[in-house]
Amino acid sequence: MDQRVARYVPRVAQHGRGAADIAVITAIKLVLTSVLLVSETYQVALMLVGYGKVRPPLLGAEAASRAHRAIGDTAVPITVVVAVLCLSGYEIGDAIEHAGTRVAVHVVAASLLLVALVLKIIAVRVGGRMSRLLPVLGSTLFVLFALTFASTVPFFLGGNQ
Ligand code: HEM
Repeated sequence: MDQRVARYVPRVAQHGRGAADIAVITAIKLVLTSVLLVSETYQVALMLVGYGKVRPPLLGAEAASRAHRAIGDTAVPITVVVAVLCLSGYEIGDAIEHAGTRVAVHVVAASLLLVALVLKIIAVRVGGRMSRLLPVLGSTLFVLFALTFASTVPFFLGGNQ
């Protein structure tokens, strides 16, 4: 078994999945998390246009906001899937004990990310005065996505844990 996979006993192994399955699940998570970070960066750019902070000649504020909403609707289920894979695949306490601060940062950032995501969905649905929270919630989401990414993906891709 790959050393990085075997470092601590992931829950998936207890469900009878082999090292190859775990490696595939890990690869899927790494790709999805990278895609999410890129799309989140694009989301920030779209809302700079949506709020009229940047006025590119070829993209109007209305279209930028609609694109932001459509991408967001796609990003939410992908984020939930990755989070479920994490929660079902690792003994969180063991993982933090073995890999220390980095994993603790990941768990805290990802948990706050899920909370911020729920708050943002509520703010979008309720509208009215809650809409004023959207720029703060959006920026918070971007920072938390970046932290969630930075505390996992580079370490797995570099084989440097
Ligand atoms: C409450 C939610 C979450 C918890 C408790 C959690 C926990 C964990 C733990 C313990 C690990 C193994 C740590 C390591 O050795 O690197 C891990 C890995 C990882 N997590 Fe999460 N995570 C959560 C949500 C997320 C979310 C939302 C994303 C992406 C947006 C994500 C992406 C990843 C990636 C890419 C890895 C490395 C690949 C892997 O280990 O399979 N996680 N997570």
